[in-house]
Amino acid sequence: MELRKINLKDAVDQWEYTTALPEDENGLTNPYHGVSLEEYMESVLPTLISYEHPVNMPDWFVPETYYYLWDEDNLIGEFRIRHHLTEALRNGAGHIGYSIGKSYRGKGYGTAGLGLTIQLAKDIVPEEEIYLRVNKDNIASQKCMLANGAYKAGEDEEHYFMRIPKL
Ligand SMILES: CC(C)(COP(=O)(O)OP(=O)(O)OC[C@H]1O[C@@H](n2cnc3c(N)ncnc32)[C@H](O)[C@@H]1OP(=O)(O)O)[C@@H](O)C(=O)NCCC(=O)NCCS
Repeated sequence: MELRKINLKDAVDQWEYTTALPEDENGLTNPYHGVSLEEYMESVLPTLISYEHPVNMPDWFVPETYYYLWDEDNLIGEFRIRHHLTEALRNGAGHIGYSIGKSYRGKGYGTAGLGLTIQLAKDIVPEEEIYLRVNKDNIASQKCMLANGAYKAGEDEEHYFMRIPKL
């Protein structure tokens, strides 16, 4: 199992994953649901790659790197790291967003993939803790976080705000 940064070589697998991912699932939004391969190649993929070193983006935009979890030849899931916090991210989505393809859920990939992502995030983010947010009814994702050393740092009506110390 490995995390591979978004790239041109894996474009078709990445497109299949992205286009199948729902528009909104448990607060993880995906504006590219159902996009054609042509549009993905011409516009979506270059845009997502550029997010690591943003150009012509508004001031509030934080660099974000997309990774895909692979098990042998299968693309299993997507993990995104936002490189640092802003006030909006601190009180909102935090550093990491992720999903596992529907047919691969419940097999331990979410927990394992989040673990690999946290290892990378420790070298990227300057904050002392990794911030995560999860819907209160998303038990599977809460378990992935807790299994990776997260604790509940706060909550609002709909979410828990979780943190993982970098140590
Ligand atoms: C959340 C998500 C990433 C979990 O991925 P996954 O590969 O199924 O996770 P795992 O297989 O590692 O399972 C983690 C734990 O949740 C449990 N679990 C899995 N699916 C579950 C479900 N539908 N309901 C309750 N528990 C569930 C597993 O049994 C496991 O528990 P354990 O550690 O006690 O054995 C995946 O369900 C997903 O992509 N959901 C949609 C997007 C999303 O919610 N992203 C996270 C936003 S914060």
